[in-house]
Amino acid sequence: MFEIVARQEMAQGTIISNWVKAPKIAKKAKPGQFVILRANEKGERIPLTMADTDPEKGLINIIYMVVGKSTALFKTLKVGDSYLDVIGPLGQPTHLEKVGKVVCVGGGTGIAVLYPITRGLKQMGNYVYSVIGARSKDLLILEDEMKAASDELFICTDDGTYGHKGFVTDVLKKVLTEHQDIGLAVCIGPVPMMKFCSLMTKEFGVKTLVSLNPIMVDGTGMCGCCRVQVGGKMQFACVDGPEFDGHETDFEELTLRLRSYLPEEKASYDLFQKEHAPGCSCQK
Ligand SMILES: Cc1cc2nc3c(=O)[nH]c(=O)nc-3n(C[C@H](O)[C@H](O)[C@H](O)COP(=O)(O)OP(=O)(O)OC[C@H]3O[C@@H](n4cnc5c(N)ncnc54)[C@H](O)[C@@H]3O)c2cc1C
Ligand code: FES
Repeated sequence: MFEIVARQEMAQGTIISNWVKAPKIAKKAKPGQFVILRANEKGERIPLTMADTDPEKGLINIIYMVVGKSTALFKTLKVGDSYLDVIGPLGQPTHLEKVGKVVCVGGGTGIAVLYPITRGLKQMGNYVYSVIGARSKDLLILEDEMKAASDELFICTDDGTYGHKGFVTDVLKKVLTEHQDIGLAVCIGPVPMMKFCSLMTKEFGVKTLVSLNPIMVDGTGMCGCCRVQVGGKMQFACVDGPEFDGHETDFEELTLRLRSYLPEEKASYDLFQKEHAPGCSCQK
């Protein structure tokens, strides 16, 4: 059992941060890697990136957005409750190297995935420009952490409630125009954001990493569920990724595959919400 020792609600309760006891994983995990968790015996296996680790205390930090049944079930777990399984570390760690100047771009919960990579790139001695964005100020996460991990931090909100009004791509373009010697971009967030960031960095000829989030089941390369097309070749995101070259990624196919089970996912979430509605006796 993997106990939750700290829990924080962020972004008006739509994003949850858990510190979970998982000493063996905490000792081995590197930036860019993820775990697969189950809340209980009947639970679905859910992949989440480790936003941080504390090897000395044996803890890992996961930060997730509540988007459907399983993440809503995770949200019901309080401090002292446990996940039934946590498997990891999974996936390839980010290849961290000194390239000089880098730009890290994160949107929504993608910022949680981006944070350990940004910190790692700074620790390698890179000069780090970071651009983070959310729909509005209330939904922005990890601003202080990203500030500490960057040399320069730019903030964007779609509605203009904080920082630049507009998308992260607007600021990315400005940074790339003003600093033509940037050697690497890391862009992590919703699929359309990663696609448009990659199109932009391609114009500037800047190598770009994105972190892909296809549906996963086993996380060990056995089921084939997480296949993605990169550079015309089939790759399994769980073992070959989750990071890939943004200029080579087929974002259209990824989008279609992510939508494969939308009706089932909606029905399952609706039922969960009904069963957990105040006054419902289904769970008693
Ligand atoms: C390597 C990896 C790392 C991830 N890291 C994070 C993270 O740090 N924080 C975070 O908020 N989210 C992360 N995700 C996405 C997260 O796994 C999904 O949001 C979650 O599985 C949704 O489950 P649900 O039952 O709540 O929602 P559902 O209603 O089942 O699904 C909502 C959407 O989530 C996606 N999804 C559903 N099931 C899975 C699955 N088994 N595997 C992957 N995606 C699925 C689909 O696009 C689906 O349309 C990551 C995904 C991957 C592959
Ligand atoms: S999740 Fe099964 S092969 Fe990747």
